[in-house]
Amino acid sequence: MKRNVIFMSLLAIGFLLNACYYDKEELLYGKGTTTCDTTAVTYAGTIAPMMSANCNSCHSGSAASGGVITSTYTSLKVIASNGSLVHSVNWDNGFSSMPKGGSKLPTCDLAKIKKWVNLGAPNN
Ligand code: HEC
Repeated sequence: MKRNVIFMSLLAIGFLLNACYYDKEELLYGKGTTTCDTTAVTYAGTIAPMMSANCNSCHSGSAASGGVITSTYTSLKVIASNGSLVHSVNWDNGFSSMPKGGSKLPTCDLAKIKKWVNLGAPNN
């Protein structure tokens, strides 16, 4: 019984140390590059400006490409929820690579989009 408790404690400590290790952003995004801060990601402060700079030129108004609109929260929430936002900017198989004809967004921007979507794409 006692040995069991010690074993479980070691296991728990192991998991905790492991979690800390993999949460380090330098390890995820590479040393030497500026760290990517995804802690304060918001729709208005982070995502909307990103869409405006990279996507809205094709994805707004009544003639929006592919019928996809990235320039309003309500429409963006649709592609955030159905997965096509994250898949298309990650250039995943089965989705059109976005921004179309351009280069892939910086890794940090991709991380921020993913974070926002994982939070449930809040209108904040
Ligand atoms: C130069 C124009 C252009 C730009 C810029 C652009 N798109 Fe697109 N997008 C398109 C077109 C055209 C389609 C329709 C599908 C196709 O033709 O590939 C499309 C389709 C999509 C789709 C549906 C993809 C699918 O396979 O279901 C999503 C989601 C999308 N775009 C998101 C974005 C996002 C997010 C950005 C900015 C990072 C962006 N687009 C930038 C032209 C553009």
